[in-house]
Amino acid sequence: MYNSILHWNNWSEGLAFLTIQEKTQNKDLESIFSRALNGRVLFKNHKALQSDYVPDHLPFRAQQVTSIAEILAPILHNSRPSNLLIYGKTGTGKTAVTRHVMAKLNETCIDKKVQAMFVYSNVRMAGTEYRTLGDLASNIGLKIPFTGLAVSEVLFRIQNHIKTQGLKTVFVLDEIDYLVHSYSDDILYDLTNSSDKIAPGFMSLIGISNDLQFKEQLGARVQSRLSEEEIVFPPYSAEELRTILNERAALALNQSSYSGAAINLCAALSGSEHGDARRAVDLLRISGEIAEREGSPELTEKHVRMALQKIDQDRVSEALRTLPLHAKIALLASLNACKNDSPNASSGAVYEKYCELAKESGLEPLTTRRVSGLLTELDTLGLITASIVNYGRYGRTKKITPQITILIAEKSFDSDDTIKHLLAKTKN
Ligand SMILES: Nc1ncnc2c1ncn2[C@@H]1O[C@H](COP(=O)(O)OP(=O)(O)O)[C@@H](O)[C@H]1O
Ligand SMILES: [Mg+2]
Repeated sequence: MYNSILHWNNWSEGLAFLTIQEKTQNKDLESIFSRALNGRVLFKNHKALQSDYVPDHLPFRAQQVTSIAEILAPILHNSRPSNLLIYGKTGTGKTAVTRHVMAKLNETCIDKKVQAMFVYSNVRMAGTEYRTLGDLASNIGLKIPFTGLAVSEVLFRIQNHIKTQGLKTVFVLDEIDYLVHSYSDDILYDLTNSSDKIAPGFMSLIGISNDLQFKEQLGARVQSRLSEEEIVFPPYSAEELRTILNERAALALNQSSYSGAAINLCAALSGSEHGDARRAVDLLRISGEIAEREGSPELTEKHVRMALQKIDQDRVSEALRTLPLHAKIALLASLNACKNDSPNASSGAVYEKYCELAKESGLEPLTTRRVSGLLTELDTLGLITASIVNYGRYGRTKKITPQITILIAEKSFDSDDTIKHLLAKTKN
């Protein structure tokens, strides 16, 4: 019925046929649309607050920009730049700064007619070694089938292509720690050890890692080759985040549609953990979205607090959804052992409950030690707290206090049939 009405030329005539409920629905929609059209729209450029946006100006990173530019500059006279390892915690600007310098250098190369190729691949997003090399191949004009070849064959074809075409390449492997954690450093060994095989072409590698201990996980040879140069990105202070956010807000939001206090709160909340600009920018974007949806003329501190709650909830749901099955059951057991208004339960009681639930789902329960490990993991994720309570000469026991409610668990486990079944059981 809807479709046929929408196709009528005479819209108002069509409306006469709508039921009262449909009319109300349409009124709601109309008011949403008219608010978007006429109301105060907060965003002037929503893209400028999205995570992959690279701003032209990156405050507090002049030194890192200069260093990367100096390291890569030899490519302008056809020399191979040194390999480079970039470290820093998440949200310290590693990706943005690297992409910014690459884009500028690429422009200069085009301008000066220097033949060079800059390839960027996020290893975690690519997911596998094969896909990472596939990214590299397709960006240097080499066709590789989506699957089916051995990784060594893909590598061989890439090297051969660089050699025969005499390509000068810079290859950025972002979140390189993921590659080494999931596979090994073999591929890095091959990539950093290929200069003879690809001459007169060359390849410089830039590895970016969120894990500060990453280097220690590399074999000695890869370590020394990959880190010919190193740059560290320190966390931002709350004050620095404030400047960064003010610049981003000016790009993304309409003037006078946000309060300075709201920006300060975003900066303070994101600076308190480890100076994470990603968290700060995300917080600002979500606050703006909430304010706009509300039809508010101004983004205020209230919206920032609401956004913070939403981000934290999303983070908890994501953590819950991606738990291994036995950890989910251990979490349910903790929630269940604390029933009847008791805020916590002994680890013994949680283990008992865990065994009961595991058997209920047809699983062989894990040992006490393994479950104790799972509880420690849940503690690290902030889903429970496990604290040792000392009873003096009566000994010590571990007390488990859930940090989420059954309701949140229910929502997050909605698509997990085994757990849904257990939840239904334990509720009775
Ligand atoms: N100095 C800066 N100025 C402006 N925006 C920044 C700055 N540093 C980081 N950002 C922004 O913060 C977010 C996270 O930065 P990103 O480069 O992805 O961090 P990392 O790669 O270190 O995790 C991005 O939206 C980025 O544009
Ligand atoms: Mg990054």
